[in-house]
Amino acid sequence: GMPERVRIYEVGVRDGLQNEENIVPVDVKAEFVRRLEAAGVETIETTSFVSPTWVPQLADAAELLTALGESARGRNRPVLVPNEKGLDRALEAGVGAIAIFGSATEAFAAKNLNATVDGQFDMFGPVAKRAKDEGLWVRAYVSMCFGDPWEGDVAPDQVVSVARRLMDLGCDELSIGDTIGVGTAGQVESVLDGLVEAGISLDTIAVHFHDTYGQALPNTLTALRKGVTIVDSSAGGLGGCPYAKSATGNLATEDLLWALHGLGIETGIDLPAMVGTSMWMSEQLGKPPASAVVKALGAP
Ligand code: HMG
Ligand code: MG
Repeated sequence: GMPERVRIYEVGVRDGLQNEENIVPVDVKAEFVRRLEAAGVETIETTSFVSPTWVPQLADAAELLTALGESARGRNRPVLVPNEKGLDRALEAGVGAIAIFGSATEAFAAKNLNATVDGQFDMFGPVAKRAKDEGLWVRAYVSMCFGDPWEGDVAPDQVVSVARRLMDLGCDELSIGDTIGVGTAGQVESVLDGLVEAGISLDTIAVHFHDTYGQALPNTLTALRKGVTIVDSSAGGLGGCPYAKSATGNLATEDLLWALHGLGIETGIDLPAMVGTSMWMSEQLGKPPASAVVKALGAP
């Protein structure tokens, strides 16, 4: 069956904006977060404390948290942190939650982290340990779970092994990323079965689908039917990864809401307010929203 309630983990401010070439002013980012909050979004990934050379768009991470004030410091406002330098900056900014982000493949570990699959744990190990000691909530992403632009198909075992090692660092939640949006429903089932066999509880697993091949929603519904209750999505379908060619936006929050509310599943989020937020953001960025639902409901 389907869950009664789904927790939506909004990634538009981080995954959505990280790929935008033109630097979005920090006030606009803060307003974006406030509008999401007003629409009822509980969990918002706000920014990344990564190298500003690697992701210039998010170089203003500390300023954004300052602009947002106390509300940006809770356990429902995670920020990406790759290494101890990033953790120092995040702690200095007073965050209450972080996300580390591993790769299932060698090619993407090299491109995204300048590391190997094994070597990435040298970064994440100390970060996770210190974060837990400081009382932070910690999420672990695994990227390239269903396919990789350089390596092609990715074996579920490879994903499960990286996921298990990340969860063994004491992480609270695992997010399974289809970074380039190529996965299909059967693969989603195989990976989830593998994770459960490896002892990772379904109520700690989130799914993170990019929508390149239009499979994000069917894949999400497949995951929900398997017992997943946490779904990553981005307002208006913003998103992409600058270090993964062919990555497009995430599953749009509005498309997800349309499907979930249609099934009578609670999210706590107001769809018209979300559509308004994405229309506003699309004006700020000067490009039309990717979301089919925003296009349908937001049309003048
Ligand atoms: P590196 O170049 O090997 O790093 O990059 P380094 O340790 O050699 O440091 C190089 C310079 O960067 C040094 O400065 C460091 O101080 C500085 P210099 O001495 O040259 O002046 N530096 C930093 N500055 C600020 N904050 C930091 C930081 N770290 C180093 N945290 C590194 C290694 C991991 C830093 C780099 O590869 C990096 O930042 N990668 C992040 C890339 C990224 O953000 N990608 C997008 C997010 S992942 C994603 O989108 C996928 C996801 O959505 C899930 C999915 O879809 O699958 C999560
Ligand atoms: Mg992503």
